[in-house]
Amino acid sequence: MSSFSDANRANWDERASIHADRSGQGYRISQFIEDRELLSGVVRFDLPRLGSIAGKRVVHLQCHIGTDTLSLARLGARVTGLDFSPVAIEEARKLVADTGDDADFVVSDVYDAASVLTPGSFDLVYTGIGALCWLPRVDRWAAVVAELLAPGGSLFLREGHPILWSMDETLDDDLHLRFSYFERPEPLPWDSDTTYVDTYRRLTATRTYEWNHSLGEIVTALLSAGLRIDLLEEHDSVPWEALPGQMLRRPDGEFALSERDGVAPLSYTLRATKPA
Ligand SMILES: C[S@@+](CC[C@H](N)C(=O)[O-])C[C@H]1O[C@@H](n2cnc3c(N)ncnc32)[C@H](O)[C@@H]1O
Repeated sequence: MSSFSDANRANWDERASIHADRSGQGYRISQFIEDRELLSGVVRFDLPRLGSIAGKRVVHLQCHIGTDTLSLARLGARVTGLDFSPVAIEEARKLVADTGDDADFVVSDVYDAASVLTPGSFDLVYTGIGALCWLPRVDRWAAVVAELLAPGGSLFLREGHPILWSMDETLDDDLHLRFSYFERPEPLPWDSDTTYVDTYRRLTATRTYEWNHSLGEIVTALLSAGLRIDLLEEHDSVPWEALPGQMLRRPDGEFALSERDGVAPLSYTLRATKPA
């Protein structure tokens, strides 16, 4: 395991315990326990594109503390969540024990997913919302997705747009393109003791490493892995306040630019299928 990966996992272990706080508002954990029909904003946003997943065998890669995973279970899927953070998986298991939802969880690096799960056994691979930026190579990820899918099965990806990842979120006076839009071997290093939910708690594992992947690189990686692209829709909004101080929250819970709305895509939904 690389030191980049170890540092990222230590950071995610700490974030998972903060994000799973029953009184925290960021992930609305207590609401998922009280309201057994509540869906996460991320899953709800894509319902028209997702179609019926009732009875489908689904793996949710980089599932974090399981709020999207249990939302997929609430739509009738037989779902397994996978994440490399043991703390995130422990919190996800506790959450479904409390909500009564039916979902399994495994601890694994996403690159090892096809050795801990049965290759070719999933109708749907679901992932995104801050997932790909933690992976050094998008071609290796696409190969894992293709290996997990049954013939005829699909990948469903909603992700922050690579143009958004190339913006400097610390400068709030305007949009600033500062970081590579393209995948680079060297990661972008960060050092921060905060996370993206409102909390007084501070992180001690502050160093993290991220990689951007261009839209062309993502599409090409999926095509090279043998998948067919069925849908690629860019959105002018994103489910978290990605550019603090420059965004407005819409009634559907998504964040869009408060000035010059629509000047750049902020996220996208992609669906790709493994030919039968
Ligand atoms: C921003 S979260 C994913 C978002 C998720 N949709 C959510 O908000 O519930 C990123 C997740 O990726 C996981 N992760 C990062 N690198 C990983 C890797 N190499 N293998 C598996 N999981 C990884 C982290 O532990 C974290 O839970």
